[in-house]
Amino acid sequence: MSGKIYPVDPAFAAKARVTGEQYESLYAESVSDPENFWRRIGGRVDWIAPFSQVKDVSFDADDLHIRWYHDGVLNVSANCLDRHLTHRGDKTAIIFEGDDPNDSRHITYRELHADVCRAANLLRNLGVVKGDRVAIYLPMIPEAAVAMLACARIGAVHSVVFGGFSPDSLAGRIADSQVKLVITADEGLRGGKKVPLKANVDEALTRPGTTSVETVLVVKRTGAPVAMQTPRDRWWGALVAGQSAECAPEPVGAEDPLFILYTSGSTGKPKGVLHTSGGYLVYASYTHELVFDLRDDDVYWCTADVGWVTGHSYVVYGPLANGATTLMFEGVPNWPDTSRFWQVVDKHKVTLFYTAPTAIRALMREGEEPVRKASRASLRLLGSVGEPINPEAWEWYHRVVGDGRCPIVDTWWQTETGGILITPLAGAIDAKPGSATKPFFGIKPAIVDTNGQVQEGACEGNLILTDSWPGQMRTVYGDHQRFVETYFKTYPGAYFTGDGARRDADGYYWITGRVDDVINVSGHRIGTAEVESALVAHPKVAEAAVVGCPHDIKGQGIYAYVTLKAGEAPSDALRKELIAWVRKEIGPIASPDFLQWAPSLPKTRSGKIMRRILRKIAENAPDQLGDTSTLADPSVVANLVDERLIR
Ligand code: WTA
Repeated sequence: MSGKIYPVDPAFAAKARVTGEQYESLYAESVSDPENFWRRIGGRVDWIAPFSQVKDVSFDADDLHIRWYHDGVLNVSANCLDRHLTHRGDKTAIIFEGDDPNDSRHITYRELHADVCRAANLLRNLGVVKGDRVAIYLPMIPEAAVAMLACARIGAVHSVVFGGFSPDSLAGRIADSQVKLVITADEGLRGGKKVPLKANVDEALTRPGTTSVETVLVVKRTGAPVAMQTPRDRWWGALVAGQSAECAPEPVGAEDPLFILYTSGSTGKPKGVLHTSGGYLVYASYTHELVFDLRDDDVYWCTADVGWVTGHSYVVYGPLANGATTLMFEGVPNWPDTSRFWQVVDKHKVTLFYTAPTAIRALMREGEEPVRKASRASLRLLGSVGEPINPEAWEWYHRVVGDGRCPIVDTWWQTETGGILITPLAGAIDAKPGSATKPFFGIKPAIVDTNGQVQEGACEGNLILTDSWPGQMRTVYGDHQRFVETYFKTYPGAYFTGDGARRDADGYYWITGRVDDVINVSGHRIGTAEVESALVAHPKVAEAAVVGCPHDIKGQGIYAYVTLKAGEAPSDALRKELIAWVRKEIGPIASPDFLQWAPSLPKTRSGKIMRRILRKIAENAPDQLGDTSTLADPSVVANLVDERLIR
């Protein structure tokens, strides 16, 4: 823990949306009288029929329900577009910065409104109705936002799948929610490399369970030739051009679903996290405005892909609901060179910049020169999300990127939470590098010990949330029981985050990372169970155990222990083959960084793999293995320690 404190800059506070005093009093009100607090905040959204109910929540596992504003009726796309047309019609809604530095354009709110209406009409004409699921498998191009908003406009439920996922991962998601229509592109383009998105869709749709898909719309991005299967596959561009630029927004209940987003958990397949419309939009827009201290003339850039929740809440819905200018970047931080982020900041005069610690660490390694090459004079606030930011990276971000003048907001939240829950507000809360600091309005964090006892004062343990907020996920799509079991059974009456945390004497929270079998690789969640099941699907593998290990750039790396079937011999070629296999099964983000051959795995007498021991070996801490006497065969450990890959 770094001891340093960065006090609120008085000049920033003088103009800030929330000051220290306001934070204290609003926070107190938000947790003592959530009903009235959220009733007032609910007014920031335009309702077709106003809500009378605010909060209707029970965290009791036997009667679990989470409803906000549930008799209200609205349309999310109308909130992101139509209501801005009178005063902000000609304001830039989206700045698109392509992978190629010469490829960029501005889209006004009026233009975006027309594009979304055409796309929504197209979806309607193709038979998509309210409640139908639409998969979006696109690069970071404006069509991704248009597709999301078009779904929202007609009340269809989108399921965005990150373009880096494999055909099998895509197929699993399509099958789980019985998708009717897929929107993709011929190819994606990232760092000068092409991603065969359409070919991946074709392959995915040969998998079992995907026959629900009737139509595949293909956006032309690179112009590469792709196979088009009639009548299933249609060109997006030609079809949208023929649609009307007016489309009446569908009235949608506050608790009707807006989207499903799959995320990894500790067990089994990724879960379809379901978010609904009213509360989600209130929470995403409110946090976006306050956490980033948003003004009308800001140029806001969140570098996340729309395939992740950060892209949903803080590239698309939060900023557009607030009438902000949001930048969508198709490329990567190190192409054409490692100065790209800062060149883009200068080119578009970005004022608010939000990225992940893994990007900061990777750029930090390149030294200060690529940053100093750009002026960055427009920047006024920096944000971080996705994983704990180590104080060293925080200091570099502050001193070098922000020239020591921009406050940093280290925002903790999850796919499940819909929006930011623990964060500094730059005009109100002194920063401590490495700490996400204090809860946002309405958020009641608590820390529990191993017995589930809530701890007071300075302490460390597991992080829970004892009350709801409007942006909370409502269920796991198609498996409500899994929602109850995963989040509400461990600590009765509370939502369990899966994270560990420490609270210091000043009441600041320090997130220590996942305490379950989820690995956070470059800010992306990978379930150890998913990687294990991919490995054991290989014909030569008998058994596999996967744990996280320390990694300088990625935060955590993937460390796999593999036991081969009898008669199979370990070799470097086979190691490469297995790593490539996992890449193909799940996607590049799940590639093991280390793969150690394990003649056998440490198991208890009941056959359970002792991951605690495997984690310690992967951390190069063989002197901290603890008690190994309960193992069925304690001697297997010595071999694993001798052959460990990180020293
Ligand atoms: C981690 C991303 C520390 C955490 C928005 C959480 C963080 C998981 C932070 C959720 C942060 C996210 N400090 N840890 N500022 N932000 N995390 O669902 O472990 O992709 O549970 O949502 O990322 O990842 P997810």
